[in-house]
Amino acid sequence: MQKDDFTALIPEIDSCDAMLILAPVYWDQFPAQLKAFLDRTYSFMDFTQPDFSMAGRKDKKLAGYFFAGFGPVDVYTGMVETNLKSFATAGFRDYKAHVAGDANVPGSIMDKADDLKAADEVCEWLLA
Ligand SMILES: Cc1cc2nc3c(=O)[nH]c(=O)nc-3n(C[C@H](O)[C@H](O)[C@H](O)COP(=O)(O)O)c2cc1C
Repeated sequence: MQKDDFTALIPEIDSCDAMLILAPVYWDQFPAQLKAFLDRTYSFMDFTQPDFSMAGRKDKKLAGYFFAGFGPVDVYTGMVETNLKSFATAGFRDYKAHVAGDANVPGSIMDKADDLKAADEVCEWLLA
């Protein structure tokens, strides 16, 4: 048993339709706070279930839109997908990831048509 700020989020996470994660890439990985959030989804783990999950809903969508100061974007996309996969325990079985590279300059994404298009597509997919 662990009680912290995540405890209050459990019913919201369990009953939502979709979740959007926006985060930077730090040292080629999930930033520490987001990793801690992922770790706390262990609350949904139930080894007596065939899929190890006691989530009430298992049809939720998860999108991760990440920003990296540099890259390599393809490597980071693989890293993000590997981590997003673990949210299946909390019922997010369907996921999409996008990493926007060269994001060090604030506002620079406004000049990057591909990253803006990806943001639109991710949101449309989440809301569909
Ligand atoms: C601790 C730390 C580690 C970082 N590691 C990486 C990295 O491994 N690769 C990379 O491309 N950018 C890295 N960056 C740059 C961030 O990804 C970039 O600053 C961020 O995406 C932009 O968001 P922000 O404006 O919130 O900082 C790092 C930044 C910080 C502060």
